[in-house]
Formats: sequence, C-alpha cells, structure tokens
Amino acid sequence: MLFKHAHCTTHFRPLTLSRNLFLTPRPHAKALRSSFSSLTRPCAKPRATQLVGATWNQELQRRGAKRKASLNLEDVPQGAIGSDTLPPQDDAEPDYPPLLQQVRNNMLKFNHCVLVTRVGGFYELYFEHADEYAPLLNLKKAKRKPSKGSKKPAVSMAGFPAYQLDRYLKILVQDLNKHVAISDEFINEVLNRAKGELQYTRRVSRIITPGTLIDEHFMDPWENNYLLSIHVDPKTLEKDKAVTKCPGSSNVPSVLNLPRTEVGLAWIDLSSGDFLTQSTDIASLPTAVARIKPREIVLDSIFEEAEHSRIVSILQEDGHIITFQEPSQEPLAVKNWISMLEDAVDDFDPANFTSGEVAAGGSLLHYVKNQLLGSRTRLQAPVRHQAEDHMSIDKNSLRALEIRSTIRDGTYEGSLLHSLKNTVTRSGTRLLSQRLSAPSMSLSTINDRLDLVEEMIEYPQLRQDVIALLGQTFDSLRLVTKFTYGRGDADDLMELSKTVATTSDLFYVVREHTTSRNAIPVDPNSEASETRRRHCMSTFERRFDLEGVCELAKRIRYAIDEDALSEYHRVEDEQAEEMSELAQDVLGREAGEEDLKNMPKRIQPKPHAITGSYKSATDGRDDIWIMKRKASPALHRLHKSLDSMVETKAELEARLRQQMDVSSLTLKWTPNLAHIAHVKGKDVSRVTPYFPKSLSSSKSTRSFQVPEWTQLGAQMDETRFRIRNEEQRVLGELRERVVRNLVRLRRNAAVLDELDVACAFALLAVEKNFTRPIITPGTSHNIVGGRHPVVESSSSDQGRKFTPNDCILDDKERIWLITGPNMAGKSTYLRQNALISILAQTGSFVPAEYAEIGLVDKVFSRVGSADNLFLDQSTFMVEMLETAQILKEATPRSFVIMDEVGRGTAPEDGIAVGYACLHHLYHVNQCRTLFATHFHALTDMTRDFDKLAFYCNDVREEADGKFSYVHRLKKGVNRESHALKVARVAGLPEDAIAVAARIRKQLKLDSSNPISAAHSAKTKATRKGKAAAAE
Ligand SMILES: Nc1ncnc2c1ncn2[C@@H]1O[C@H](COP(=O)(O)OP(=O)(O)OP(=O)(O)O)[C@@H](O)[C@H]1O
Ligand SMILES: [Mg+2]
Repeated sequence: MLFKHAHCTTHFRPLTLSRNLFLTPRPHAKALRSSFSSLTRPCAKPRATQLVGATWNQELQRRGAKRKASLNLEDVPQGAIGSDTLPPQDDAEPDYPPLLQQVRNNMLKFNHCVLVTRVGGFYELYFEHADEYAPLLNLKKAKRKPSKGSKKPAVSMAGFPAYQLDRYLKILVQDLNKHVAISDEFINEVLNRAKGELQYTRRVSRIITPGTLIDEHFMDPWENNYLLSIHVDPKTLEKDKAVTKCPGSSNVPSVLNLPRTEVGLAWIDLSSGDFLTQSTDIASLPTAVARIKPREIVLDSIFEEAEHSRIVSILQEDGHIITFQEPSQEPLAVKNWISMLEDAVDDFDPANFTSGEVAAGGSLLHYVKNQLLGSRTRLQAPVRHQAEDHMSIDKNSLRALEIRSTIRDGTYEGSLLHSLKNTVTRSGTRLLSQRLSAPSMSLSTINDRLDLVEEMIEYPQLRQDVIALLGQTFDSLRLVTKFTYGRGDADDLMELSKTVATTSDLFYVVREHTTSRNAIPVDPNSEASETRRRHCMSTFERRFDLEGVCELAKRIRYAIDEDALSEYHRVEDEQAEEMSELAQDVLGREAGEEDLKNMPKRIQPKPHAITGSYKSATDGRDDIWIMKRKASPALHRLHKSLDSMVETKAELEARLRQQMDVSSLTLKWTPNLAHIAHVKGKDVSRVTPYFPKSLSSSKSTRSFQVPEWTQLGAQMDETRFRIRNEEQRVLGELRERVVRNLVRLRRNAAVLDELDVACAFALLAVEKNFTRPIITPGTSHNIVGGRHPVVESSSSDQGRKFTPNDCILDDKERIWLITGPNMAGKSTYLRQNALISILAQTGSFVPAEYAEIGLVDKVFSRVGSADNLFLDQSTFMVEMLETAQILKEATPRSFVIMDEVGRGTAPEDGIAVGYACLHHLYHVNQCRTLFATHFHALTDMTRDFDKLAFYCNDVREEADGKFSYVHRLKKGVNRESHALKVARVAGLPEDAIAVAARIRKQLKLDSSNPISAAHSAKTKATRKGKAAAAE
C-alpha cells in the first residue's frame, strides 16, 4: 500500500510492512512534486533503502538479542510484521533506548506522517520531526543523548501536554495540511515487563489527515468535513489524448480540452457517517468538486506521473489538498463495503452504482481503513447523488454568486449562506449549506419543502416551540458517529439522551399541531394547498422514529449521575490548570519517562490507557462516581460493601482515638506510604507505646502503620477498583446500545435538521418579506418585484431602499440585453435573478412580490474578472475559459448570466466576442439569459434576434448638476454609461476628469471611426493641454 501525500512517499500495508517500503521517489514525478511545496515531508531516511526482505526480521531479532530485553515480534508496533521487512538500523551502534527505538520504528513505518508520541502526560516529537515542527508549533526544542556514553548524536525532542493535543493537531492538520500519526501508550503485560521491557508500548492508534477528522474539537461544526475519492481512467487523460479540434488546446489545463469520459466520485464525512457517490463526466468535475468542497482528495498514484497529471493541475487550480494512493491489490468490491456500513442497509443495492463509483468508493474505503488502523466504521449506506436530481451551480457561479463565501476575501460574512443562516443547530446549518449548493430538480421535493416552510410561517407558535426545542439539542449526528468508533464518553451519552428526550418533545409538538389542524374543516377556497400541507405534516410526523431510542435515553439517565459528572469535570479542570502551570517548566526538560518520575507525584501524568489501574482507584482523592449506584446490580452491591467498609474505617478510627487518647488521629492513604495512620501535636508521643515503629515523622507529626487499617484499606481499594471497572463496563454497554440504535438515531437527526432548515426559511420569509415561489416544469421566468437578498439587507442597514425589478423571460423574450450607466445596478440585477432561482429550488421563499419559475437545470455565471497568473492564465484567458464552459454546457433549461463579456480585451475584439456569445446562446443553447454590457454596438447588432429584448437603467440628473441612479429597469437601450460621473465620485483629480471629458466629446464627433477619432482627439487634447500649460 503506497501513500503519497503530495511529494511525501510512503508505502505501507495496514498490518505488514512491505518490501517496497523504502522506494525512492520516481524521477518523472519530480517536476510535479515541486509544485506541492507546502505539503513537503521528508521521505524515508536514506539508509532505509538498504534493508529489504527477510533480513528485516533477522536483523530485528539479532539486534534484539544484543539488548537486555529481547524484542518480541508482536511487540513491534502495529501488529504482525511481514516476513519480508524490518526497520533499518545502524549496525555500528544499533540501539536507541527502547522508547526512542519505538519512536524510530513508528517514524519509519509512517513516514508520510508527522509522528507524535505519548509519553506520560505529554505528546512528544522526536528526531527530525522535532527539528522541523518545533518552530512551526512554537515549541521549545531540547536535545538529549540517546543513552549515557552513546556515540550517537543527541536526539532532538519537543513536546506539549497531552490535553493540548487538539490545539497542536489543528496547526498540523488544519493549517499545515499534514498527516499526523498519533502514537499512544498501552500498558505492557507484566510478563513482558519482567523481561526488561518498558512499562508501556507505543503504537500508532490513528492517522489524522485533513479529510479524516472524527471528533476533533477544531473541526468546523457548521460544515461537513468531506474526504473525496475520484476515479477516472488514466488512459483517457494522457497528454496525447487532448481534444485536437482546437489547436494548442493541450497546453491549457481546462477540462474542456480533455476527452469526455466518465468520472466516478465517492465522498464521506467520517464525523457524521455520510457516504455519497456520483457519476459525472470530466467536464463537470470541477463543478462537482466545488459543490462537495472536500477537505482532502484521494487520487490514484498514477496521476502523479507527468503524463497523467492534467487532472491534478485542474484540481490544484482550485487549491485542493491531494493525497496520492497506490491502488490496493484487491480493489474493494461493493459487497466488501457492507462491513464498513451501519446495520440496516436495506435500500442499498450494489447494482445501482456505476463502475466508476464502485472504483472510487473502493479506493475511498481502502484509504479510510488504513487511516483508522483497524477502528471500525459504521458509515451510512451510500447515497447516489444523481446529477439530474439537482440543479447544477457551476464552480464559477458558486464563487461569483457568493453562495458560501464572498469573492473578495473568501469570508463567510457577506455570503448568501450567511444572510440566510437562521438555523439554530449545527447539523441543520450543514444541511442548509448542502441544499444551497445543490438545489433540487424535483417539483415534489421542492413543494414538500415549501409546504413545511409555509406551515411554519402560518403557525408562528409552532415555529417558536420547534425553534426553542431545537436549541436544546446537541449535534446528534456527529455524537452517534463518535460512538461507532468506540469513542464517546459519559458526557456524550448525556448529550445524546437529552437530544433524544427533546426529539420526543418535538414529536409531540408536531403531532399535537397536526391533530388540531386536522380537526378543523378544510377551507374550500384553499382546498388544494391546505390538503397538500396537511398531508405533508402527517408524513413528516411519521418520520420520527422513537421506538427503542427513548428507552436508550431513559437507560442513560438512569445510569449516569449528572451532578457527579459536573463535579468530576470541576476536579479535572483544576488538575488541568495545575498541569498547565507546571507544563512550561517541564517542557524545557530533557525528559523521557525517567525524568517524569522526578516530577511532583501530585502532577505525575496518568497513563492514557483506558484500562482502570489499581493505583488510580487509590489515589487518595474523594471518590467521584459518574454512575449512579443503581446503574447495575453489581455496582449497587459494590457500593454497599464500600459503604460498610467506610463505616468500619470510621469505627476503627474512633476506637484508635479513644484507645490511645489521640483526637488528631486520621486513617488515610498517601501515594508514598500507602495506608497509614497519622497524628500530630502532642498526640505524637501518645502513640509511641502502642505503635513504636514509625514510617515517617517530624517534630509535630508521625505516620505509622496500623495492620487493621492496612488490610481494610486494601479491601476498600480493591472495591473502588472494581467499581471503576464496573462503571466502565456499564459505559461500554451503553455505548453498544447507542450503536445498536444508530440507524434510528440518524433518522431522527435528519428529521430535526429538516425542521431546523424549514424554521430558518420561515423566519427569513417573515423577517424579509419573501414570497412562496411557484415552480413549474416550463422554461420561463416570471419574477415580479425581485430583490437581491444580500444587497437588500446591506442597503437597508445603511438606510437605503432597494429598488425591486422584474425579470420575465419566456418564449417571447428569452434573452435580456441590459445596458445602462455604471453603478446603476446591472450586475446586482443579474445576480439577484440567479439567486432567486437557486433559493426557490432549495425550497425557500424568495425576495420578490411574485415568482413563477420554470425548473432550472444549471445556473451559469460569467461575472467579474479574476487573474490566475499562477497558472499562467491572463484576465482574458480566465474570462474565455469560463465563457467556453457556458457555451458548451448550457441547455435550453439553463439560466445564464453574463456580465460584460469581452471587457478584458480591445473594444473591437470584445464586441466581436460578446456578439458571438449572444449569437451562440440565442441559436444554440437557447437558454434563459441575462446579458449586461457597456458595448452599446451589441444592441444594434442583435436587432434581428426576435426573442432578444433590450432593457436598461438610468441616471436622473438634477438642474444643479447633482444626479441619482434609477435602478428600476425599463425597456430600451441606454447608450450613456456616465462613467465620468462615477470617476468623479471616486475622486479622480478634476483636471484628469476634464481631459477625459474633452476626449470623450471628440470621440463622439467621429463615432463611425473610433480609432482615428481617438487619435485625433488625443492629438487635439494634447495640443490644448500644452497651450494651457504655456499660458
Ligand atoms: N436595485 C437596486 N436598488 C438599490 N440599490 C442598488 C440596486 N442595484 C444596485 N444597487 C446599488 O448600486 C451599486 C452598484 O450596482 P452594480 O454593481 O450592480 O452596478 P452596475 O450597473 O453593474 O455597474 P457597472 O456598470 O459599473 O458594473 C450596488 O453596490 C448597490 O449598492
Ligand atoms: Mg457591473
């Protein structure tokens, strides 16, 4: 198994180290790799190339024998070692101390990763990883000799307290896009320890990459964290297979220059278990990827080779993080997916998937399996994203229409999503974002969504109740998924049980509403819509699936003691604070396990291993039990016997006090002396006759052993230990129950998300005065009084009123050619109509007085200009690439907005290109189009296009020279761009404005020959300017 994360190269199989572990990078891939510089990681150590095959094992055993402790094969990290490879070691002086050797082995095995190793309460980076990352993580770096008198150079190390893992993972994974291998410590069997081994073995338990986050705190709660796998036949993308119709096309990394071929996509969000697939073609790939917005893309390693690399350039252009993976020897067939899916996968029919999807899905799951190192996944059954079921918003429109982020700085504030976000839950917001990026093409789905929104508008009390309840829920989709990985603690269980309880409340709210609604006779005036909405609510009510899950929630509440849990956290926080105070000192140390022993006992980090330790049960603190006593009969019994022992202890204490007349006597446990009796003051002398032997004493205190207490204490410790174990068992049982109810819990989570989105849209419609759109199967637009949802909000924030405009595109007028002054609102108008179509098919009300919209299959926009100098694309090239996409892809059902096409070149060329676009859109694509331009000649050239109409906005000039914009569109052509007005407002120097005005006047005089006019105007203006200067 080979992973290449950009130009880091690692080969490994999940359980065996393979022969090709230490291959050096292929030379032909070098050029490509250099463009991934931000993702660079050193490859395996050069000496690693020397050892292959069976020598690995022999070497390990031979060297193992040199040390005092022999190294068992199974002790080598990551399970069984293949018979053919061993980690390379230096013969002259082979041994690092065991801890460092384990680290070294792990670094070699996971050499595509940054390795962080748990040592006590810290995570440490060693060797070159410490050198490279300590400065980036702002950690102090220390050097330490591997062992006393060793000739090996000092080893670099840097670390941070374990509780800060998430903080550093965020920097490594999220900011630096690294793969991080987390090596945890596991208690070694006593038997092995006797053989001289370390107390802990360190094994990599998980690899974290940007696309495989599960429950890390730094994960964006409002967005899905997708990992995407793309499958395409590499042969079709070879350099010589470019479409040859257009000369020179192979030089431009545009999907349009690649032969049409099927592309399989599969993507998952490990944090929620979402699993989707799609079959698309190469031309639509960038749009599909932009919609999915993956955090990481997995590609077959063949695409790293120069001749197949064009797909990589295309993905890179959009800044995606790519990981190359050597294909598995036995690709995962669909039937093999089932073991990684949740139990109920009834509607999962392998025959539904195309071969491309199967290949992409197989490689995706293969990758996930290896990153999770054996942890089980229970993904949701894969859902096919059928392109024809969704409106496609092409990559450029997604950006230009600022759906999820703004163009200028890519921020969320100012985007459409931001202005719509009235959702109260995180997963509801994720659903909103998904729906906005892929609106529906199904009339019934859209109407069902709109019905729910309308119901929430008409019944404000219902809406308020639902919103209030939703506010009390937790992100159950991510919570339940956490349990499937064997994670999830008592807090997660409590959150889950509260969410289930609230879900049940929500069910009753909806049910009560439906029942009381159905009791009222239907108003004959609105019979059709009433009946439909009632039906929609009843269907919705039936989607709640509470059977079993309420029982689970009850069981959780019955078992977990919430008060004790918060007390437990209080103590934990106190400890964390203590730790962080001391952390800085400790971080500067040249520490290993040995050094940690010298730390104050009180803050000595606890081992991370989950297994309860005897010592942890007896650490002298007051017991805080997170489970209620009645959680299990065993727990009840154990607590009872602990109670009686506590009583016995009190009696013993009282008896001893009385017997020796020592009121200060206490029976206690300390980490150093275990069970002792302690007295102070004058009592010290009184105990000597009874207990002459002291364990420790000072002038005023004395500690000594009381055999009865030693015995009783030991029994109490054992009971505590058993309670802890029993608590863990009950916790495990609860976790298992959660997993058993996985499908139901996920179903309910989906219902809640839909309610959240419906309420959010309802609130939006009420607050912003949106109307319900009528969606039709036709291909016309009839929007009356439409507004731009985002510009309107910002205008009203600044006290300005937004002027509504109509948009009526139908068989009579399919294209609107819009002219008018700068700043008069052409671009705003174009965008608002695209956004209204998107909102309508998302299932939202729209900012208009009336909207009747024929289903739109694809929205395209060519607006603004953007250079892509990095990829050698000029402003005009970008413009043409985007325009080409539209002209090739738009169908008669599409909606196109084109803003000032041809602006980026000479006027004659620009006009020619603009005309060609209109001509093509009119005759070939035949789609609804809004086209704004300052090339007024275009209006003359298109007079004979019957279904093309002219509209314009204007400037109103006052007598005193002041002016204002008339944003309202009217029929006709406006040949005045009033550019100089805008220039003056923008603050161009007055004399520059005067020159411009003169030139403009001159140009107008000879409009039949703009070039010679420009020349003569320029000459005259220069002469005039010179004369003025001479005067
Ligand atoms: N219908 C409207 N009602 C009120 N204000 C509007 C309206 N349309 C646009 N505006 C305001 O006018 C500004 C300029 O609009 P826009 O960029 O759409 O003009 P334009 O005609 O495309 O100009 P240019 O030709 O220079 O590109 C917007 O930022 C907005 O604040
Ligand atoms: Mg504009």
